[in-house]
Amino acid sequence: MQVNVFDTPQAAAKSLAAEVAELIRSRAAQGRPAVLGLATGATPLPFYAELIRMHREEGLSFAHVVTFNLDEYCGLPREHRESYWYFMHHNLFDHIDIKPENVNLPSGTLNADEIPAHCAAYEQKIKDHGCIDIQILGIGRTGHIGFNEPGSDDTTITRQVHLDDLTRSDAAPAFGGKDNVPASAITMGVATIMGARRVALMAWGAKKAPIVKKAVEGPVTADVAASYLQKHPNAAFYLDKAAAAELA
Ligand code: GLP
Repeated sequence: MQVNVFDTPQAAAKSLAAEVAELIRSRAAQGRPAVLGLATGATPLPFYAELIRMHREEGLSFAHVVTFNLDEYCGLPREHRESYWYFMHHNLFDHIDIKPENVNLPSGTLNADEIPAHCAAYEQKIKDHGCIDIQILGIGRTGHIGFNEPGSDDTTITRQVHLDDLTRSDAAPAFGGKDNVPASAITMGVATIMGARRVALMAWGAKKAPIVKKAVEGPVTADVAASYLQKHPNAAFYLDKAAAAELA
């Protein structure tokens, strides 16, 4: 696994965004879409800001880009401030020329009995696009990627999951209290993520240093979903110095 350490999150995000821009441009030159797997959370914000800057200042076009987001909270309508639909539109899609029909996120407003078929269709739609060219990831303090909480092994695909207590505590401030944080979510599985051609995980700050160490140097285990990336043929971590501080 590649581990790239940068002085600042901005420098790391700029490097990753340049790689993604190169992919988008080379695919457009071939008349083929680039398929991006996208993530939410505070971590990818400088990366999205850099993509928007390249769109505005350098003419980077997303007209041929298809996106699949990792996950969505169950029970949140699109217009809810904490929905990942809202997050992605507010922080990226509303500022670039992506076609609305090329944007894919799991739905947050399904009845329980509709969820399995929705998840199967989401997984199939990714396969119909060949595969994800590059999957962008953050990491939760439980080691989750997407919402693959401890216990998620590398056979898991898109499905409904219960959120870990630590994950809900971390999300509590944004929701005005832990009781308001949804209990479950729909997430791509570890196998879905491992199916991407390339995987790029970003992490910033000292709070992430212990879990980054486990993911990069610990045993490959379902207890830390991100540890499976050690087995991916083309995975890279993009870290700032604080997040990398505990690595040997
Ligand atoms: C949520 C998301 C993850 C994200 C994690 C970390 O749980 N489902 O995809 O990586 O939060 O968030 P942050 O980047 O804000 O630390």
